Amino acid sequence: MNAPPKTFRIKSFGCQMNVYDGERISELLNENGLSAAPEGADADLVVLNTCHIREKAAEKAYSDVGRLRREDGSRPMIALAGCVAQAEGPEAKARSPMIDIVVGPQAYHRLPQMVAQASHGVRPVDTDMPSISKFDALPKRRSATPSAFLTIQEGCDKFCTYCVVPYTRGAEISRPGGDIIAEARTLVDSGAREIVLLGQNVNAWEHEGRGFAELIRTIASIDGLERIRYTTSHPVNMSDELIAAHAKVPNLMPYLHLPVQSGSNRILKAMNRSHTAETYLSIIEKMRAARPDIALSGDFIVGFPGETEEDFQATLQIVDAVGYASAYSFKYSARTGTPAATMEDQIPRDVMDDRLQRLQDRINAHQLAFNRSKVGVETQILIERAGKYPGQMIGRTPWLQSVHVETDAKPGDLIDVALISAGPNSMTGAVRQKEVA
Ligand code: 5AD
Ligand code: SF4
Repeated sequence: MNAPPKTFRIKSFGCQMNVYDGERISELLNENGLSAAPEGADADLVVLNTCHIREKAAEKAYSDVGRLRREDGSRPMIALAGCVAQAEGPEAKARSPMIDIVVGPQAYHRLPQMVAQASHGVRPVDTDMPSISKFDALPKRRSATPSAFLTIQEGCDKFCTYCVVPYTRGAEISRPGGDIIAEARTLVDSGAREIVLLGQNVNAWEHEGRGFAELIRTIASIDGLERIRYTTSHPVNMSDELIAAHAKVPNLMPYLHLPVQSGSNRILKAMNRSHTAETYLSIIEKMRAARPDIALSGDFIVGFPGETEEDFQATLQIVDAVGYASAYSFKYSARTGTPAATMEDQIPRDVMDDRLQRLQDRINAHQLAFNRSKVGVETQILIERAGKYPGQMIGRTPWLQSVHVETDAKPGDLIDVALISAGPNSMTGAVRQKEVA
């Protein structure tokens, strides 16, 4: 147990920012002489990069820890990372004696030292939020997937009353523009054709008087970068300049994930969302004027304390009014320490189940309609990976739909296809002609 680990495996849960952190942790461990355990083999060190946004996610982290015990009774060194680690801190060690290391999202650049300590029987905990950026302490990026994540902003100052993020990820912090552009260039040099800028409030990015729209324009002009996307945005930070960028920047993809959470102004107020259904819809209208083909996505919570059937109907109405191309919906989960957790009139589970089902049925119908509206369209897809069948590849349209296509194109190729059929979750395409990558 105490031998220094040679191999590692990282399991990331939750949002794309955790996926990005997982990639950076992997590079860091590589740099420190560890290698990724081959598929199917036991790893000496397992990093669970956890999510704390809903209660189930936190419980899942602990049951995942338990499952790491091997048949012969032995177990790997276990590092609890991510937002559960941040929220639980030293308590995590008390809750599970199997956890060797507790490392928060702002401290993982210290993981190699913590692994060394754990090899000597110490169980280190680091959930500090240091002012020095962890990014400065991480190795330079060396490899990139065709579509690569790049975290540019972390944390949240919005304090929606249901949400733990302002507590787990701290205040909004923007990375310096120069660092972001340098990392974007390295990603492109390493094979990325698309960059997805990430942040809990990505469109709140601001550094030394520069705003997010300007950052997008700069990154979009990097030679060899074909596509740029961003997620997740807050309606309050959806500036006119950013909306205009969707009309002016050709490689900014026509897709916007803009959570609304509810269609009821009463509930939005109780959620402290600082927008109304009307102001949200006016942003959508401006966005459609700037980029008529924009695909819209959102997040919804059903069963927030006090939500009536009438409030819920307003949510269904906003789904219809926007006509989402995709959307994520969740049952409200009371999180200790958030204002909503102690609000009166918590909604019974069966009511939440029923509302979630009805909401998801409505969202799925719009998603299918959106996909169907693209049948017959000729467009470009970015090939990301192999499909299930020989000769089949999977790529993404500008509107982020997955497309299955028979082709000898490789991941990273952009190819012209005609979209020929649509399902609720993906489309099939036929090759037109290949662009030389
Ligand atoms: N319960 C349910 N869903 C939540 N989300 C955030 N906090 C909660 C909660 N306590 C959802 C929101 C957010 C998405 C990332 O997760 O919809 O946009
Ligand atoms: Fe949570 Fe609201 Fe901040 Fe999003 S904007 S991370 S939902 S507090």
